[in-house]
Amino acid sequence: MKKILIATGNAHKIQEFKDILKYLNVEVELISPKDLGSYEEPIENGKTYEENSYIKAKFFYDKFHLPTIADDSGVEIDFYDGKPGIYSARFLGDMSYRDRNIYITNEMKGSENRGASFHCVITYIENDIVNYYKGILYGKIANEPKGDEGFGYDPIFICNGFNSTNAELGQDFKNHHSHRALALRKWAKDFEK
Ligand code: IMP
Repeated sequence: MKKILIATGNAHKIQEFKDILKYLNVEVELISPKDLGSYEEPIENGKTYEENSYIKAKFFYDKFHLPTIADDSGVEIDFYDGKPGIYSARFLGDMSYRDRNIYITNEMKGSENRGASFHCVITYIENDIVNYYKGILYGKIANEPKGDEGFGYDPIFICNGFNSTNAELGQDFKNHHSHRALALRKWAKDFEK
């Protein structure tokens, strides 16, 4: 089975990648930098999802010389003029996601400006060839956090066409519909050619 290095230390993301690839019937062995004894992370100082995704993929590709997949993702919230975007992991400082999600929904209480979108850009490097794949999931911010599945902003994100948050709809829903699943589906099409 082909080995692909997944350029992240985020256990939730690794599990999502594994689940989505299983659902897409792509037979690869995903290995993480930690599996190879590497705990280093590159500095994500890009200005776009593409740049940050490339920085992560290139860092681990240069280190291990394996086909490498990386993603950079974030949530864009209309109420905050599209922020936090590429800064989603660091938005509102060191607050836990539980507190962050409560803070955001409290600040947005009563506002009708609730539009939001999740973005993902995947970079895949193999034999020094770099390709990018994008996925966007449109929706809105819930009135309050709900649900226990997923991670990050999932408890406050309601996908268009649904009435429950991603965290309530659960992992199976995300594996089919998330921004990451949409981008990975495009990657899988190329990969299987
Ligand atoms: P990254 O590891 O730099 O791509 O960080 C992306 C950040 O965006 C995560 O730490 C979360 O805050 C947020 N994010 C990205 N994808 C998701 C998702 O599927 N659900 C919830 N939050 C997400």
